[in-house]
Amino acid sequence: MYSLTAIHLLSLLLLCDSQMMGPPGTMLFDAIGPCENNPGGDVEFDLNLQSTDSKGGKILSMNVSTKVPLDDTVTYLANVLKWEDNGWKYANKRSGNLCPDLMRFASKIWKLLQEHSVPKIPDECSLEPGDYRVENVTAATSDLDIPVTYYGKTRLDVSIYQGSTLLACVVFDGVSQKPARPF
Ligand SMILES: *[C@@H]1O[C@H](CO)[C@@H](O)[C@H](O)[C@H]1NC(C)=O
Ligand SMILES: *[C@@H]1O[C@H](CO)[C@@H](O)[C@H](O)[C@H]1NC(C)=O
Repeated sequence: MYSLTAIHLLSLLLLCDSQMMGPPGTMLFDAIGPCENNPGGDVEFDLNLQSTDSKGGKILSMNVSTKVPLDDTVTYLANVLKWEDNGWKYANKRSGNLCPDLMRFASKIWKLLQEHSVPKIPDECSLEPGDYRVENVTAATSDLDIPVTYYGKTRLDVSIYQGSTLLACVVFDGVSQKPARPF
């Protein structure tokens, strides 16, 4: 289910305020990994981001091993941070039920993960306990159903919970670019 989480995160880049935002362009990921306070145990994951070209293209592979089901009792808290004046500044946050938001903002990414998953994950967000592998996924912000995103160096910190128990926490670092303008 961890895999999912990572993806969810992607979906949460949205959010609002500041003038430095607009429709999503390209998001270049620099790093993805567990947060400092990732507990491990119930949900273990291993993420790998591999460069495919010199322009920042990356493919993601991951192994996720979960002892608890990912179902509609799982909630998330996503914090968005912006790099400003040489430090990370809190920009926004979003929380809610993981699966409904995932299906709402990142159903294309779920589909993409599904196509690359072994064993195959379900059509709709949910996951039985087990070991999952997702290999070589290329995801773009254009796969997100969100109207706006921040531009610039951005960090997304996503924690998923069952009740008050932290199951896992993933951090994404990347650079969000404005959409290319047609000439
Ligand atoms: C996942 O598991 C496979 C097979 O055991 C291994 O080759 C790979 O390095 C692991 N990690 C990632 C991130 O793919
Ligand atoms: C994933 O990419 C690696 C490196 O490009 C390649 O060796 C491997 O066969 C690919 N795996 C799949 C399932 O396509």
